Amino acid sequence: MRNNTVKLLSTLLTLMFVHLAAGQPPASQLNLMPVPEKVELLAGKYRLDAGFTVRIAGAQSGRLVKGASRILDRLTGRTGLFLANPTPLLDASAPAAGMLLTAGRQGELAPLQDESYDLVITPDGIKMTAETDIGIIRGLETVLQLLDADENGYFFPAVRVHDKPRFPWRGLLIDAGRHFIPADIIRRNLDAMAAVKMNVLHWHLTEDQGFRIESKAFPKLHQLGSDGLYYTQAEIAGIVAYAGDRGIRVMPEFDLPGHATSWFVGYPELASAPGPYTIERKWGIFDPTFDPTREEIYQFLTTFFAEMATLFPDPCWHIGGDENKGHQWDANPEIQAFMRKNGLADNHALQNHFNMRLEKILDKLGKTMVGWYTDAPPELNKKYIIEVWKGREAMYDMVRRGYRSLLAYGFYIDLIQPTEYHYANDPIPVDSVLTEREKAMILGGEATMWAEFVGPETIDSRIWPRTAAIAERLWSQSEVKDVAEMFRRLAVVSVQLEELGLTHIKNFDMMLRRLAKRHPVDELKRFVDVIEPMYTYSRDRPHVFKSHYPLTRVVDAALPDPPAAREFDLLVEGLIAGGKEQEECLKSLTIRLETLQADYPRLMETINGSPVLWEVRPLAEGLAVCTTIGLEALELVKKQQKPASAWIEIRLALLKKAQVPSGEAELLIAHSLEKLVKSMARPDSPPRK
Ligand code: ACM
Repeated sequence: MRNNTVKLLSTLLTLMFVHLAAGQPPASQLNLMPVPEKVELLAGKYRLDAGFTVRIAGAQSGRLVKGASRILDRLTGRTGLFLANPTPLLDASAPAAGMLLTAGRQGELAPLQDESYDLVITPDGIKMTAETDIGIIRGLETVLQLLDADENGYFFPAVRVHDKPRFPWRGLLIDAGRHFIPADIIRRNLDAMAAVKMNVLHWHLTEDQGFRIESKAFPKLHQLGSDGLYYTQAEIAGIVAYAGDRGIRVMPEFDLPGHATSWFVGYPELASAPGPYTIERKWGIFDPTFDPTREEIYQFLTTFFAEMATLFPDPCWHIGGDENKGHQWDANPEIQAFMRKNGLADNHALQNHFNMRLEKILDKLGKTMVGWYTDAPPELNKKYIIEVWKGREAMYDMVRRGYRSLLAYGFYIDLIQPTEYHYANDPIPVDSVLTEREKAMILGGEATMWAEFVGPETIDSRIWPRTAAIAERLWSQSEVKDVAEMFRRLAVVSVQLEELGLTHIKNFDMMLRRLAKRHPVDELKRFVDVIEPMYTYSRDRPHVFKSHYPLTRVVDAALPDPPAAREFDLLVEGLIAGGKEQEECLKSLTIRLETLQADYPRLMETINGSPVLWEVRPLAEGLAVCTTIGLEALELVKKQQKPASAWIEIRLALLKKAQVPSGEAELLIAHSLEKLVKSMARPDSPPRK
């Protein structure tokens, strides 16, 4: 068994035991996520009571006052304490404070801002200092994560923390183009980002399927390009301010020249073919593309960008630039003539010509251009920041050529991949051959929430809690990589995010209740707990999905990396490995399989009684096969009997069948049981105790 697996398993068994025995993990374990650069535990505790106050010294800012007020609010929410002072004290002559915050200056919302902080908690109180108020905002989240309780009440453990991020850019992309994500959902995700010290919302605002922002200069953009689902300028301003209060930058993305169908519904003259155009309803890569040979489009974009720049003060501006196949360019004789006349050899050269023009427009607005486009020509301004999404090599290549980079590759949370995969995706791995100068050009990374298969009800569960692990990868030192430890803290943080209104946990139950209609839901929950949505690219391989299709099915309620299935797999690994944990694993697996087996009749009643569930009937039938095979296998292990090879062959064939997706979801425990049965074919099986 791999080292990691041993640790994960022992953490799981400890948690199961502690949960049963005491209901609470040991108080000495800190639940900080991301892990700070330096943490030193000191002796004693600082007790929290209703007299707790927060005082702001040093540089004053609205961000600090609001940030401290939010922390007080969350402390009262968590503890039920009736605090006498619900807002921070600004008066220097105020009585000694429970928590004293001192910032050197107001931070700017720009890359490379100082976000460090120093925190000291002693039995006498809490003191935090930081160069900027943004550093204090980061540190306040650490304070909240330190809150603990014992038989005498609430306390903060005495600690000394020195902390700063490893990477200056720790982003979350939200694609509001493919599915519109209303403003309140953006706001709560900003709160969650702040909770794990992320600092850039990359807001993907335009897509083939929707133009999601109000333009007063060109109103047909949102009027005809959005089905009425767009952010008003007032909403945008509100969100940018809300993010700023949390020390989060908002970088807009207007994806050009492809992914642009929705622009052309109102303004077909911008495109490389005459149109008319309608809003795209399917997912994929489409032909409608800006015509880079016409001066009018640059005039249009100059006016449009200037209007948008009044809403987005951030110095960075994303132009997209991905997935332009150039079909409309190939088919347009005037564009071909332009290319010949200007010595543009191919579509890459034409797109570079376009990018160079955009860069100049943005430069005049004081904006740094960011894009997905890796094939930058040598003459492109070195300010350009490339966001890498197709393998890491492009990132290394770009930093060697002198361009700053962001890593999105490996952080595609839309794809439904395991948390530990994203967690291991270090932008600068320890074995990197980059020079120090090149390393410094890697600014960080972004979790990308592409929204083909998420809507308002499910977006939180696709982002959280996995993105907290990505946040840690980007904030904490590279040595922080213990997967078992990450999962332990992730479980704590995940529940804390609920206090900010995130729905990643509660919507699971709600969606299953709706799917079950009037039928019992407990069995359905335990069933969906061990299945997972298919890997996204496989899910829509035939490109048949449309933007108005439902996002309310089992596949949508099912969670990426579901904890119950992960635990099941660990227990199987523990059983296979033998050793002292084997008995525990055997017991726990038996209980889990017996429960799932006993669930079957009522689960089938629920499924049969609710037509929307019929598509997962094959998975439920597969689960019944799995429980039978699993319990048979456990019985053999218990008796230390080796099965006949025919038994193994038949079971493996049945388990393979149980792995076939249905309703675009997969039964994860069928994979775990396959491992178990395969292990029984080994000469040394069944493992000795
Ligand atoms: C992308 O995923 N097309 C940037």
